[in-house]
Amino acid sequence: MTPASVARPAAVASTRPRYLALCARHTEPLVAAELLSLPEVADVEVRTGAVSFSGPLGALYRANLYSRCASRILRVLGDYPCEGPADLYDAVRRLPWEEFVSVDGTLAVSAMGEAPGLANSMFTALKTKDAVVDRFRERQGRRPDIDPQRPDVRVNVQLYEATRGHRCLVSLDSSDPPLYQRGYRQQGGLAPLKETLAAAIVAQTGEEALGATPMSEAVHTAPPHMQRPATVVDLCCGSGTLLSEAGLSMLRMAPGLSRNFGFMRWRDFDGMLWRKLQAEARSQIRPARDVFLFGSDIDPRALRTASQNLQAAGLGRLSRLVRCDLRDAEPPSQQPGIVLCNPPYGERMGDERELIELYRSLGDTLKRRFVGYRAYVYTANLHLARQIGLRPSARHVLWNGMLEGRLLRFDLY
Ligand SMILES: C[S@@+](CC[C@H](N)C(=O)[O-])C[C@H]1O[C@@H](n2cnc3c(N)ncnc32)[C@H](O)[C@@H]1O
Repeated sequence: MTPASVARPAAVASTRPRYLALCARHTEPLVAAELLSLPEVADVEVRTGAVSFSGPLGALYRANLYSRCASRILRVLGDYPCEGPADLYDAVRRLPWEEFVSVDGTLAVSAMGEAPGLANSMFTALKTKDAVVDRFRERQGRRPDIDPQRPDVRVNVQLYEATRGHRCLVSLDSSDPPLYQRGYRQQGGLAPLKETLAAAIVAQTGEEALGATPMSEAVHTAPPHMQRPATVVDLCCGSGTLLSEAGLSMLRMAPGLSRNFGFMRWRDFDGMLWRKLQAEARSQIRPARDVFLFGSDIDPRALRTASQNLQAAGLGRLSRLVRCDLRDAEPPSQQPGIVLCNPPYGERMGDERELIELYRSLGDTLKRRFVGYRAYVYTANLHLARQIGLRPSARHVLWNGMLEGRLLRFDLY
């Protein structure tokens, strides 16, 4: 993991704890921008699939609370040469585990990557666990239990190859569970987007009206005033993830306000600081009175799910959902707004021939009825994307798991 850029000059870096915000490839700059907007966050460096930063506990808590695009935030305990199981064991055993988990607490280990003699992640996790519990036994005569589901401390071990040999990065998962679990999704649809990908789509548009830039406003601005948010339309909204993430971003609602985090179960958890940061985040929420999120879908089950999810996200009364084929969709207001749309693309649902016709119809609907809007279509099928028949004014790669997706922008004149 080599740093690609240093986005903010180092402050009092070396003594501060270091953190890694893990994220999908190509979303690193979005995560870096989120982190740079947060007070106390320093030394932001873009890596591959991660952004590293440093700072006091407040920086770690804020990153979990505010990041929309990162998948987890790790607290790095150490990064050591690792040419075999003995190196891993020794490195892990030297770390001060008792600062994070009590002997009566629980732990779990997640491992990934390879090093000599450590090709199997389960064995790597076992070796790591042995080192932690042996340290406790030696010092306190007893050891924490293992709880793979909901441990007090989830240890993360990443083995990787660097220029001068293999290494192990040992860290604690401060998010656990991952950040895409916002706490608002009651159910998914047939092919729901992960919340973090939906948030990355919203951020990648760069639309200020969607709260995409600058995120720093979410933390620093003067008291919010009643403003009319832009109209956002999703013509195949499924379970409403794009609408939910757009709504949360537009109203500057911190995505982590209604969930718990792994760091809350650590021994060094500072409850007073956390409550202060939650209150700060609540005070940043912008009020809105009128409906501004408009979703439609052909499937009534998807609409029921979207309705429950938007409700749970606190966006119920600001959204309107209707059953409608996108071929018949009309703009909800005279005032042009923004279309966000993730049509089916054949990997999990839909037959390619039908989908070709669907994408052509989407192009027709946008061109004929949504004049003045800007439309953003996310799809992992470029052949289908070409059927829209409009020339994209911008394209961005955003991975959906193993699928290379594209976000296409269309300016509709
Ligand atoms: C990939 S899913 C969208 C998932 C959504 N972004 C989410 O996160 O839940 C595609 C959606 O398009 C809807 N759809 C398929 N054909 C449609 C049509 N002709 N008109 C409107 N919606 C349609 C499906 O019912 C499905 O909910």
